Amino acid sequence: MDRIRLIGGNQLRGEIPISGAKNAALPLMIASLLTKEPLILENVPRLADVKQLERILENHGVDIAAHGRRAAPSHIDGQRMTFQAAEIVDTTAPYELVSTMRASFWVIGPLLARAHEARVSLPGGCAIGTRPVDLFLYGLKELGAEIDIDEGYVVARAPKGGLRGARISFPKVTVGATHVIMMAATLARGTTVIENAAMEPEITNVAECLVAMGARIDGIGTRTLTIEGVDELHGATHEVLPDRIETGTYAMAAAMAGGNVLLRNARAEHLQAALDVLGQSGVHVSQEDAGLRIQRNGNGLQAVHIETQPFPGFPTDLQAQFMALMTMSDGVSQIRETIFENRYMHVAELARFGADIKVEGQVATVVGVPELKGAQVMATDLRASVSLVIAGLAARGETMVNRIYHLDRGFERLEDKLSRCGAEIERVV
Ligand code: UD1
Repeated sequence: MDRIRLIGGNQLRGEIPISGAKNAALPLMIASLLTKEPLILENVPRLADVKQLERILENHGVDIAAHGRRAAPSHIDGQRMTFQAAEIVDTTAPYELVSTMRASFWVIGPLLARAHEARVSLPGGCAIGTRPVDLFLYGLKELGAEIDIDEGYVVARAPKGGLRGARISFPKVTVGATHVIMMAATLARGTTVIENAAMEPEITNVAECLVAMGARIDGIGTRTLTIEGVDELHGATHEVLPDRIETGTYAMAAAMAGGNVLLRNARAEHLQAALDVLGQSGVHVSQEDAGLRIQRNGNGLQAVHIETQPFPGFPTDLQAQFMALMTMSDGVSQIRETIFENRYMHVAELARFGADIKVEGQVATVVGVPELKGAQVMATDLRASVSLVIAGLAARGETMVNRIYHLDRGFERLEDKLSRCGAEIERVV
């Protein structure tokens, strides 16, 4: 199994290109199920999760082509891919394919809307809490679907004549269920109103793609989405937005290691809450035309308290990385995780570097230490694993991160991007 070996202590200097966002690419790919015409996506990141979703979509009948690099140089270097679901040949998403990635459950919305039936295995994915699907099922039932659970599968059927518009009010903000209900509602009869919708930039990116495909959606970027169903959607070309979690991760890496890094293509407005926190801790952040510049000279890091919240708050997907940064702050930082229970599995691994962290319920208290020491550590989930890389960048001596398949699910060429900026990091196979 691949591992990552790094020697801490080098500052980061140079440029890191930010890839297309995994959390937008996946639902955008799934949106291709809504039309028989081709959906062309630009800036698709090269990730294990993207590959896995390709397999799932192919099973439903989606033809997928990845195009070579375009002749003209462009500001993006992600893949250009075409997805065409001329016909839905199978409405079952089997356990073997769905169990490794939670977002694959989301095919249920488009399948139900277009083929009027879906049989989708209950999801797996990162082990960060129970992650139920009750809110998906609530929303789909409101749209008229009949739902049974059968041998670990959700079996959903649309009523005669297809899904029908409804008012859906989510009791808590959920990214996945917002994507699914929004996609399903584009082909439902009548008007759907989604209240307390997620407004993450990835939701906006997907909504804009759906509009380009002929959907009628109002309130994009707000807590209330109003969707007027149409008879069919058509093809479109759409660009995946830059990955704000990858951006925040490298921003924290640069803050941890010190130095001066330009995060090419990154946009501050997608992660302002996290950048504000970095600013408070003494890191210099500035938006330039080409991207975000992160600088820290040799000064100490101030301890800052954070609480994870749905967008526009501090993202839960940057919690582990921020905790790694705070292990070396001058003071005590309190971190409250409010989105997922059990999202502190990195704590035990960070302790191997000599970090001082205590967890009580939702709150982790991080007492800054003057030095971390390199260690053998284990990646436990996608974002947790990259927090170990961040700690290793500043730790004295050698760090070995085991089980890095989690990293490959969500970070494109991580070791390459960091080593080009001066980090001593390599993949050991
Ligand atoms: C998405 C992101 C993930 C991020 C998370 C929160 C993708 C592919 N994944 O995950 O990286 O960490 O948003 O920003 O975009 N919940 C229920 N019932 C449901 C659905 C959700 O109780 O039916 C709960 C979850 O357990 C969690 C909270 O709602 O406590 C938010 O989850 P949600 O926003 O749905 O996360 P995901 O869409 O799975």
